[in-house]
Amino acid sequence: MKEDRILEIRHLSKTFGTNLVLKDIDFQVNGGDVTCIIGASGSGKSTLLRCLNLLETPTTGEIVYHGTNIADVKMNAPKYRSRVGMVFQSFNLFNNMTVLENCIIGQTKVLKKSKEEAKRNALSYLEKVGMAPYINAKPRQLSGGQKQRVAIARALAMEPEVLLFDEPTSALDPQMVGEVLEVMQRLAEEGLTMIIVTHEMAFARDVSSHVVFMADGVIVEEGTPKQIFGEPKKEQTKEFLSRFRHG
Ligand SMILES: Nc1ncnc2c1ncn2[C@@H]1O[C@H](COP(=O)(O)OP(=O)(O)OP(=O)(O)O)[C@@H](O)[C@H]1O
Ligand SMILES: [Mg+2]
Repeated sequence: MKEDRILEIRHLSKTFGTNLVLKDIDFQVNGGDVTCIIGASGSGKSTLLRCLNLLETPTTGEIVYHGTNIADVKMNAPKYRSRVGMVFQSFNLFNNMTVLENCIIGQTKVLKKSKEEAKRNALSYLEKVGMAPYINAKPRQLSGGQKQRVAIARALAMEPEVLLFDEPTSALDPQMVGEVLEVMQRLAEEGLTMIIVTHEMAFARDVSSHVVFMADGVIVEEGTPKQIFGEPKKEQTKEFLSRFRHG
């Protein structure tokens, strides 16, 4: 089961006006893969994730999900989005709802689960991320790290097949980063398929099964973390990584 091909991105390009932001992107995701996407600001990482979640429409190319091209306009986007979840840098919690309500609403509205089942499910995922004591809190009462852990529980409660993360720790104070990365590391160990855009190189090296290095809208190099961090082949990859090594 673990080797099953879940996503196949073929010749994906995206333009905004005359700005070609993604150029002929190809890569695959198999069940259980933890793919980290690294690269400089503006290289197209968020745009790629947003295309994978249909928040942006690819200009050309295919995103094949279990054999179906979801970039096709006839695709049922809400149904697909419930299988491929997303965690954003800025949490995107509903501020007028409690922690528990945030984790229930998608399940009842989109998955049509009963209130009781949704609540049970929400509680188990909040427990998993260490946020069970805060179920009645509103997001404004939480730290950034706590908010992001709730956002992860909310995404998990939808029981996605793949979870996308766009710089989940970039908006956090440094002392909060560890608690979020720990949760993500645990999910990786449990075999959840994840695609993670991150600037946390130590995390990418330790947790990923696959690393994709992007620059200027193209994949410059990809491979295992050992290959990319240990023996990068391309000059551009070496130069990018050296900036992290020397601070
Ligand atoms: N909605 C949009 N309209 C026009 N241009 C956009 C839009 N979204 C992104 N871009 C452009 O696409 C390019 C890639 O942006 P993107 O946000 O994907 O980069 P990124 O790798 O995620 O960068 P960062 O590390 O800063 O988050 C940039 O030049 C950006 O200005
Ligand atoms: Mg980005």
